[in-house]
Amino acid sequence: MKIAILKERRPHETRVAASAETVKKFSDLGAEVCVEKGAGQGSSIPDAEFKEAGATIAATAADTVSGADIVLKVQRPMIAGEKEDELSILSSGQSLVCQMNALTDEKFVDAMAKAGITGFAMELMPRISRAQSMDVLSSQSNLSGYKAVLDAASEFGRAFPMMMTAAGTVPPARVLVMGAGVAGLQAIATARRLGAVVSATDVRPATKEQVESLGATFVAVEDEEFAQAQTAGGYAKEMSDAYKEKQAALIAETIAKQDIVICTALIPGRPAPELIDAKMVASMKPGSVIVDLAVESGGNCALSQLDKVVQKNGVKIVGHANTPSRVATDASRLFAKNLLNFLSPLIDQENGAFNIDMEDETVSGTLVTRGGEIVHPMLTDAPEPAAEEVADEEPADTPEEEVAATAD
Ligand code: NAI
Repeated sequence: MKIAILKERRPHETRVAASAETVKKFSDLGAEVCVEKGAGQGSSIPDAEFKEAGATIAATAADTVSGADIVLKVQRPMIAGEKEDELSILSSGQSLVCQMNALTDEKFVDAMAKAGITGFAMELMPRISRAQSMDVLSSQSNLSGYKAVLDAASEFGRAFPMMMTAAGTVPPARVLVMGAGVAGLQAIATARRLGAVVSATDVRPATKEQVESLGATFVAVEDEEFAQAQTAGGYAKEMSDAYKEKQAALIAETIAKQDIVICTALIPGRPAPELIDAKMVASMKPGSVIVDLAVESGGNCALSQLDKVVQKNGVKIVGHANTPSRVATDASRLFAKNLLNFLSPLIDQENGAFNIDMEDETVSGTLVTRGGEIVHPMLTDAPEPAAEEVADEEPADTPEEEVAATAD
């Protein structure tokens, strides 16, 4: 069994799909691990560290994947017509495990099927308790939520905590977090740790208690539609126009009083909901900051631009691309661990075989292509298998819990 780890080649992508820990664990399972030279550079993992953990280092991408059973990446390989054709170095029968936006990236899925690759899309991992440790969306969103607050703080010309000094009192910053999923909950916890007064909004009722348990105020239109807004998969539904109107009125009223807004609202497989229009931005005080984590899916703020910090009426709107890559060392470590947790039960230690067990929901839920065909039920007409119960993630540690833990 050979596992290959390729260097990421896209702009802004500094992560890598392995860590010294996962290389060692895969080696302990009997696998031969080969890492492409320099793959860990952007995440501060030198080749020597991978080597010490048991990997061999290959000079080129082609040498890395040659003879591999499983190829690990963070983002899907680029295909012909893109910056570089990375898919062409993979061979029929090899398994590819990475994020691939399989539900929307038809061109790539077709190319992968045509190439005979067995493709696992990690973003499709079912949201069941057992799969929490394999959930790359969750591990990466958590770090994004943290980093978004730090990005806001560094653009903000004022302090976050209240300070009573001899020269006068500095008021606390007021932070609104839009979308209280994994990224949003971490943003709330981080902003609270920095001493801000925090409020948050979401359309899923389950988030109310989570927001409040982190010491933030919950702001939402809590009508009948709100009570039904969570899908069986644990995600939000697209809301009706009538709900959107009521929500916009509430946000317009709330946003004018905020210093910082962190946007994290997403709907899987659809453009991000637009929650902040130009008029709302104009109502904010000069010096306020909006960080739009949803910018890659179209943005929650109408004025955010991908990979830019724009200013409108003195309000800064931050639209960094690939926020997890801005915390690359931890993001890679957690991503790599997600892949290890997914793959290790499927590797037979006795004979080194990779068992694609379709009875396992984590396998059938993520397998997109096999044997030259597209096989995922969400991409074919086949009925979807019934899911195990969706688990709500525990909210991030509150500052209070941390204090208590330190005191123990
Ligand atoms: P996400 O990234 O798809 O969306 C982020 C947040 O935006 C969600 O909370 C969503 O409700 C909210 N949102 C969508 N439309 C909105 C609107 N119009 N206005 C305001 N907010 C809006 O979701 P995420 O963070 O990936 O996960 C959602 C939930 O799934 C988690 O909070 C957790 O309960 C569950 N989960 C379960 C896992 C498991 O069991 N393995 C792993 C990770 C999450």
